Amino acid sequence: MKGFIFNLRTKIITGPGTIQEISTELDRLKAKRPIIITDKIIREKTDIVTKIEEALRGKKDYLVFDEVKPDSECSIVNKAYQVGSEWEADSVISVGGGSSIDTAKGVCILFQKKGDIREHQGVYILSGPTVPHIAIPTTAGTGSEVSHVAVIKDEQAGRKLVFADHFIMPTVSILDPTLTTSMPPSITAHTGMDALTHCIEAIHSTENNPVSDALAIHGIKLIKENLPKVLNEPNNLQFRQNMQVAAMMGGAAFTNAQVGVVHAIAHSIGALYGIPHGLANSLILPYGIKFNLPECPRYKIAAEAWGIYEENPKKAGDKLAEELLKFIESLGLPKTLKDVGVKREDFDKIAELSIGDPSIISNPRFAIYPEAIKEILEMAYDGKI
Ligand SMILES: [Fe+2]
Repeated sequence: MKGFIFNLRTKIITGPGTIQEISTELDRLKAKRPIIITDKIIREKTDIVTKIEEALRGKKDYLVFDEVKPDSECSIVNKAYQVGSEWEADSVISVGGGSSIDTAKGVCILFQKKGDIREHQGVYILSGPTVPHIAIPTTAGTGSEVSHVAVIKDEQAGRKLVFADHFIMPTVSILDPTLTTSMPPSITAHTGMDALTHCIEAIHSTENNPVSDALAIHGIKLIKENLPKVLNEPNNLQFRQNMQVAAMMGGAAFTNAQVGVVHAIAHSIGALYGIPHGLANSLILPYGIKFNLPECPRYKIAAEAWGIYEENPKKAGDKLAEELLKFIESLGLPKTLKDVGVKREDFDKIAELSIGDPSIISNPRFAIYPEAIKEILEMAYDGKI
């Protein structure tokens, strides 16, 4: 019998219009000079930053840094920190998808550790709380708004660096569904599949625990029901909010239970080919389940959450993988690696990156050797399970 630790530092505020709470939350945190970290698309093509500025105007001094790229990069983190520290920011507000939130986490690390973010990769990096961070996600999937992890690309080395520490969990997350309605359908689908992968991998992980299980099981139910609906009715705030809540639950689950080989491979093909993270997970998830199934009866729990009631754990896992493939197809997403341009001749490189990814450590079946990764890649390449 094993014990477990469950840690969730983040205060969660949900509901339409809750963006207005931001000034009050800064007051509670005694923060007077936030740096807002976002990207140019959100700043220029949506009214989200304007809404935040209206909520802050006359109450707080603030500075907007809008240079985040689709994948958070070390040089951008370093620059945002430099700009923020020179301006004497005392807090961080991240606005956007996982890239903005992870960039902000990197900036929070530098407020304590200084230097170049590349010097600080690893786990348990911080000695205590760093500056307050209010995360305002505009997608529903990464779970970064509650997670203890930041994945930041080292653009010079061509790989993604992982930073993990409970002190980089955002202090507050505001989940306002009105901010997610402008999300394009492809991003809604990709990020939703990321959330689903978090839930399923949290259940199969060797670090699974009852609290993460509870969050992940409900997250799976919400995603199965609401992801197709939100693609049909993108302006439905209830469906949007349900997806935000599911993504947050998936984030809280995996931040305490970890993920596995699906994320390890997804990080690798994301770094090599620029495939969006959620899509990369979607392409690997059914095959990761197939690989793990001989040593992971816990897929029965995920299968039940999906509505598959099968006594035999192996059959339950098989059916779950099959149903997930149908679900992915129904969302209009590609189902094979060859569909997205991944090349067989790169399998060695993908395997090398994947076995070096920290996500693989808690995979339920030992997979830290190239042949294991290539077995999954072979299935995912042709879509054969
Ligand atoms: Fe993820």
